[in-house]
Formats: sequence, C-alpha cells, structure tokens
Amino acid sequence: MRIVIVGGVAGGMSAATRLRRLLDDAEIIVLERSGYVSYANCGLPYHVGGVIERRSALLLQTPASLGARFGLDVRVRHEVTAVDTAAKRLTYRDLDAGTDATVTYDALVLAPGAAPFVPPFPGSDRALPLRSVEDTDAMVAAVRGARAAVVMGAGFIGLEVAENLRDRGLDVTVVELAGQVLAPLDPELAVLVADELARHDVAVRTGTSVTSYADRTVTLADGSTLAADLLVAGIGVRAESGLATQAGLAVTERGLIVVDDQLRTSAPDVYAVGDAIAKIDAHDGSVVPVYLANLANREGRRVADVIAGRRVSLPPALGTAIVKVFGLTAAATGWNEKRARAAGRSIRVIHTHPADHAGYYPGAQTMTLKLVVDAETDAILGAQGVGRTGVDKRIDVIATAIRGGLAATDLADLDLAYAPPFGSAKDPVTMLGFVADNLATGTSETVQWHELATALAGGAQLVDVRSRGEHAAGSIPGSLLIPVDELRGRLGELGDDVVVHCAVGVRGHTAARMLAATGRRVRNLDGGYRTWAAAHDPVTGSRRVPIPPGA
Ligand SMILES: Cc1cc2nc3c(=O)[nH]c(=O)nc-3n(C[C@H](O)[C@H](O)[C@H](O)COP(=O)(O)OP(=O)(O)OC[C@H]3O[C@@H](n4cnc5c(N)ncnc54)[C@H](O)[C@@H]3O)c2cc1C
Ligand SMILES: NC(=O)c1ccc[n+]([C@@H]2O[C@H](COP(=O)([O-])OP(=O)(O)OC[C@H]3O[C@@H](n4cnc5c(N)ncnc54)[C@H](O)[C@@H]3O)[C@@H](O)[C@H]2O)c1
Repeated sequence: MRIVIVGGVAGGMSAATRLRRLLDDAEIIVLERSGYVSYANCGLPYHVGGVIERRSALLLQTPASLGARFGLDVRVRHEVTAVDTAAKRLTYRDLDAGTDATVTYDALVLAPGAAPFVPPFPGSDRALPLRSVEDTDAMVAAVRGARAAVVMGAGFIGLEVAENLRDRGLDVTVVELAGQVLAPLDPELAVLVADELARHDVAVRTGTSVTSYADRTVTLADGSTLAADLLVAGIGVRAESGLATQAGLAVTERGLIVVDDQLRTSAPDVYAVGDAIAKIDAHDGSVVPVYLANLANREGRRVADVIAGRRVSLPPALGTAIVKVFGLTAAATGWNEKRARAAGRSIRVIHTHPADHAGYYPGAQTMTLKLVVDAETDAILGAQGVGRTGVDKRIDVIATAIRGGLAATDLADLDLAYAPPFGSAKDPVTMLGFVADNLATGTSETVQWHELATALAGGAQLVDVRSRGEHAAGSIPGSLLIPVDELRGRLGELGDDVVVHCAVGVRGHTAARMLAATGRRVRNLDGGYRTWAAAHDPVTGSRRVPIPPGA
C-alpha cells in the first residue's frame, strides 16, 4: 500500500508517523514544498525575538531523521501541482531540479495548511508574512539594523511578532482593521491586552489599515504615516485549497476542503486534515475555519487511524486558543459574547477576577475570567481569560468541561487539585460555577457593565460596598459609599431598587443577599468595579469599549 501525504508539518507529519506506527509495511511518501518538514511553526515568532536563540531548535526533524526512525520517504522542496483522483495519481515538481514527475497512490492525505493573506496595495509585495522557516529567516534578516516596524493585524501572529520585535528593541506599531485587538476576546477583556501593549510601548492603531508602503514609510487609510524599516503581515490566513479545487474536490465558499466525520474528501481514498479543512463548530454545527495546531495534530493522528481501517469519532471544534502578550496570558474557548449574541442566543454572562492561588500565599496574581452561558439550557458556550498566571489552566478546564457536556452549574462541583501555591479551595473555575448556580436558581441577579447606565436611568440607586480607601482610589460616578460591614446599620439611606457593587463581585453578592432579605430589588454589578473600570475611561467615566451588539 502506498500512502502519499501532501504537506509535511503539523497535520501531515502527525499522519505520517502515526501511519507508520499502525502500518509497518506501508510505503509512506511525504511531499513538502518548503525546505523543511516537521518544524515548530508556533515557535517561529520567538526565534525572531531571540527567545528561541538557536534556529536549529525549530527544526524538530529532518527528512533523514524521519527516514531513519519511521522509514518515511520525505521529500522537501517538492510541490504537488495536480491530482488526478480517477487515476489515483499526482504530479509534483522538484523545485531544485525543476523537473516534474508523477506518483500513484492507494491513499492520499492533503495537509497543505493555510497561507498568509495580504491584500494588494502599493508595496504590499514587501510585507513580510510569517509561516515558514524561510519566512523567519527573511524576518530575522530584516530586523538587523532596523529601528521601526509596522505590524498589520492585532491577531495571534501580529501580537506575537509585535512582542518579539519590541524585545529586539524596535519601535513597533500594530495596525488593526477592527475596533479591538485579539478578536477572540470580547472588548472589555481585549482592552486589558491593549493596555499591556501600551505598557510595553507598542503603539496600537485600531479601526484602520495600511494603504501603501514605500520609502520606509507606511501610509494608513486615514492618511497618517508611520516610519517602518519593515512591514509585517499578520492579517489572517486562507486555506491552501488550490490543489483540492483543481482535483475537483468539494470545497466551501471560503475554499475550505469539505471532509466527512472520517476526514474523507469527496473523492475516493483522498483525505484531508489541518488548516485547509472545514471544521464543524461545537455549538451550532456550522462550518467554520479554525487554524490551530492542536486540531491539525489531532486530525493527523485520526486520519492515520481511518486509513489503517479504524473508525474514528472526531469531535467538533471549540477553537481553544492561548497567546502570550508580554507578561499577560490571553486565552479563549468556544463562543465569546459577540458570537453568542450574533447567533441570537439568550445568554448569561459572568465576569470574575479571582487570584490564581490563595491570596495569603506569596505571589498571588489576579486574573479576569468571563463565562458565557446559554440561559435556556445552562450549557457553557465559551470562556475567556486574561491574566498574568493561571489563565491557561482555567480555560483548559472549561474547554474540557464543554467537551464533556458539563453544564455551567456543574463547574461548581468539579473536584480540582488544590494547595495554596497552586490554587484556592474554591478554585476560580468552581467559583464561576457558584455564580452560574446563583444566577440559574435566582439566588442573585446581576447587571452587566453596559447595562448599569440603563438600570440607574430606570431609578436604581448605585451603592459601592467597598472600603473608603478603595472608593477614594476610583469610583463609578454617582455611587453612594456604604462599606459592606456598615450596610446593616444604614438601611435607611437606601431606596427600593438598588445596584450594589464591590471590587470584583464577591462582597457585592453578600450585600445583595443582605438587602434582598429586606424586600428590596437588588442587583449586583457583574465583575464589580474592575470589569466596569476596564470598559470605561478611569478619568472621565466615559465608555471606552462598544456595547455588545444585540445586548
Ligand atoms: C507563526 C505561527 C505561529 C503559530 N502559533 C500557534 C500556536 O501557538 N498554537 C496553535 O494552536 N497554532 C499556532 N499556529 C497555527 C498552526 O501552526 C497551524 O494551525 C498548523 O500548523 C496547521 O497545520 P497544517 O498541517 O494544516 O498546515 P501547516 O503546518 O501550515 O503545513 C502545511 C504544509 O504544506 C505545505 N504545502 C502546501 N501546499 C503544498 C503542495 N501543493 N505541495 C507540497 N507541499 C505543500 C506547506 O509548505 C506547509 O509546510 C501558528 C501558525 C503560525 C504561522
Ligand atoms: N497562539 C496561537 O494560538 C496562534 C499563534 C499564531 C497563529 N495562530 C493561528 O494562525 C492563524 C493566523 O494568524 P493571524 O494572526 O494572521 O490571523 P488572526 O485571524 O488571528 O488575526 C488577523 C487580524 O488581522 C486583522 N485584519 C484583517 N485585515 C486587516 C487589514 N487589512 N489591516 C489590518 N488588520 C487586519 C483582523 O481583524 C484580525 O484581528 C490564526 O487564525 C491563529 O489561529 C495561532
């Protein structure tokens, strides 16, 4: 049996090595267009910044090492140019020799990935993408002697490259078309990332794009100019589906290769994995692009199982992702509020600001977590987190809970590891479950940061139950300060309709329960002052992020 694999990185090489472990006597050929296989594409930005010093550390395997250990026939600088699915034959070009040849297959795996997208504008041909080792070499060379860089796109690649260029000492400006950085986050969490970029002197220009690049000068759509010795393209990728289209395989409107639940394309014995394929969204079954290494690797393993005669069960995609932005971690899984509202779901939203471990143990750091819950079913739709430490664990636990079909209130009963250096007896994830439970049972009612103005306009009284010192350091305009421990003695100052708030929501909940027992309508400001302050200018009190559309 001869199996040919097109693309020798995340999905392709996972498939190749697993195939060898399952089918010892199969002939396995991997054809890779670039000069490298099985390289650490996720590590490329960190070599640009010098964090990963040795270039060789990115090169996990070579054709020779893969041949020796796995008996794979790996050919780099070999580009597949055509597939004849009827004849089960493909044509490829040896890019060094300049010659074409054909090879037949019994099974074919397409793992061509997704290519960086750069819109055409004068000078766009000099924008540097970052996908391959060759791209990395070009960027490292461009950085030498450079003083200023403009990075297009404040997504994953844009922010990772911006940080690494800054670490190299360059002046960096990130230009982002959307109104916020890091689209997987909702705006009130994304501003925390934007603030971190500002703290590290990375300028961010949102709501605009690059229109030309010439004479070391970038011009933006608003007519302003920026000095740039190099221009980086991090504005998204597109599935490399040219080969699939040429072969007559079914692709979506966006060019994603359509596969079934066994990773089979529309042609017999042709499979596809990784960034190039259409994924199924975990919540609504829609077809979505998800360009992540975890999924590509998983699919590579699974396609090998299928070719070896096993039936697989491929779960839909949550799109769980994480990124380092200087000292911050930002991570997300599933749907954010923007997505849930766009889908017309009735949702409950929970913001918390827990410490990553017990506050009395040295080094505790506060993080921001957000949970989006289906109000009708209690299903966890998604979660986001931003913080200095501990975010990765919480998002992964929630991603696992979603995958396991746990409801939001089930999070309250998770049996999670705890000792003071690592967490709290009430872990941040279980705390989210407690809040979800309180909301689901009507034990508490919350008001979101963007609903506060309407609640106050409707006659509610805003009571700050924090300490005098906290209030003096920053407060919501119009709030009445009554520290929680004084509340029982000052009930006469309160009306029938009260919104309470504290720093993060915990004392507010205690106050809300106390006041509810007096017969008042009480709502607790979700996420407390911290969430409100992230969404507003601390000096003027005016809103600095948009209200979620549909809220
Ligand atoms: C800079 C960077 C950082 C990233 N960081 C992360 C991260 O931290 N976490 C994460 O989850 N994901 C990350 N990703 C995304 C992740 O790398 C991809 O999701 C993953 O590599 C996709 O695997 P794949 O096998 O589908 O495609 P790829 O890994 O892109 O491999 C496809 C290969 O196919 C080759 N090819 C294409 N067409 C042909 C052809 N016709 N003939 C021969 N060869 C061909 C290409 O040259 C390419 O090498 C990052 C991506 C980049 C670019
Ligand atoms: N840590 C990680 O998980 C990680 C790291 C790197 C890459 N990746 C994957 O690689 C893929 C590609 O990364 P990416 O950063 O190129 O894409 P991305 O989709 O993450 O971000 C692209 C950004 O560019 C913006 N944009 C689009 N057109 C623009 C324009 N004309 N001008 C300015 N901004 C514009 C978008 O609004 C978006 O914010 C991602 O989808 C991601 O899944 C993941």
